[in-house]
Amino acid sequence: MQHSVPSRFYTDEAHFDFDKKNIFYKTWQFVGHVSQVANVGDYFTTNIADESILIAKGEDGVIRAFFNVCPHRAHAVATGAGNRKLFVCHYHAWSYRLSGDLVRAPHAEDVEGFCKADIKLREVRLETMLGLLFVNLDDTASSLAETYPGLEEGIVSTREGIETMKVVFEREIEHNCNWKVSVENLNECYHCASVHATSITQLYATDSYTVDLYGPYLRHFIARAKDRDLHGDLHSWFIWPNNVVEVFPIHGAVSLRRVVPTGPNKTRYHYSWWVPEGLSDEATAAVIAEGTEYCNTVCVEDAAVVKSVQKGLESMGFDNGPLVVSTETGQQSENAIAHFQTLYASAIREAGGAL
Ligand code: FES
Ligand SMILES: [Fe+2]
Repeated sequence: MQHSVPSRFYTDEAHFDFDKKNIFYKTWQFVGHVSQVANVGDYFTTNIADESILIAKGEDGVIRAFFNVCPHRAHAVATGAGNRKLFVCHYHAWSYRLSGDLVRAPHAEDVEGFCKADIKLREVRLETMLGLLFVNLDDTASSLAETYPGLEEGIVSTREGIETMKVVFEREIEHNCNWKVSVENLNECYHCASVHATSITQLYATDSYTVDLYGPYLRHFIARAKDRDLHGDLHSWFIWPNNVVEVFPIHGAVSLRRVVPTGPNKTRYHYSWWVPEGLSDEATAAVIAEGTEYCNTVCVEDAAVVKSVQKGLESMGFDNGPLVVSTETGQQSENAIAHFQTLYASAIREAGGAL
């Protein structure tokens, strides 16, 4: 029988730092969609754990990612999102091109040894899959395609056209728990019957639930209960360690999710809903209504249970517990949790840690 990872991995600062350095700063992190940087000069900032990252589209049409840190004395070079010709650091007004090159550093050019050409924003790796932008802070990491073989084809087999979709609804929910509690919760439907008795179970035929494990990613499947012929089924692609592309079964929509760790017992859960280009206003309104309903019910129900789980993990009365792993990957199983914990244990060992 497989038991869960000991609770200290979910509670203390040292393990949280370990996760940040060895998982979040070494894996491909979903940060946004190409539509957010459609035009030259479009930019947005985002966070990967505690690292602020700037994404911008250059004059050459290339989308780049940088650490959002001025090479002068470390102030942020941008906030929020918008469109710029240059990034001008607010602290001492050094300015940078969209390519990251330094343009002007007031008075510094007279300083002996100062070489403008040597100074630029530090670029980080960015790759695109189906219009989704992924950043990896590890210069030595394998490419996105090598890391998740078959993922792109798998998602396309369940939903085409994500590249040209547009966002219609977003919601951010605080989870008072470690990021792994949030991720584990989204990776099982064993709790659906009890926690979501009046929400998910009304929309989906939860007894149809299955999960396919593909190494560093997996797919959950649940048949839609209502208007199935019109809308299709739910396919939720979990991408190690913390991202989800959910093929949402209504009007060809997709729901994207990011589980962003902000502390040992704090996590920001970002949901967004995307619809195909040219979808009618009426159908778009239906997607927004279903997304809103989902947030107001399922998300609230999940936020409550993960909070309680975190409190339990911090209790002297708990260290770890048995996982319900069976040969069948149906609703009454925690096979995906066991799989996630195996991936987590591997990451810990690869980084020289011990469980
Ligand atoms: S820190 Fe950015 S200009 Fe000084
Ligand atoms: Fe749930």
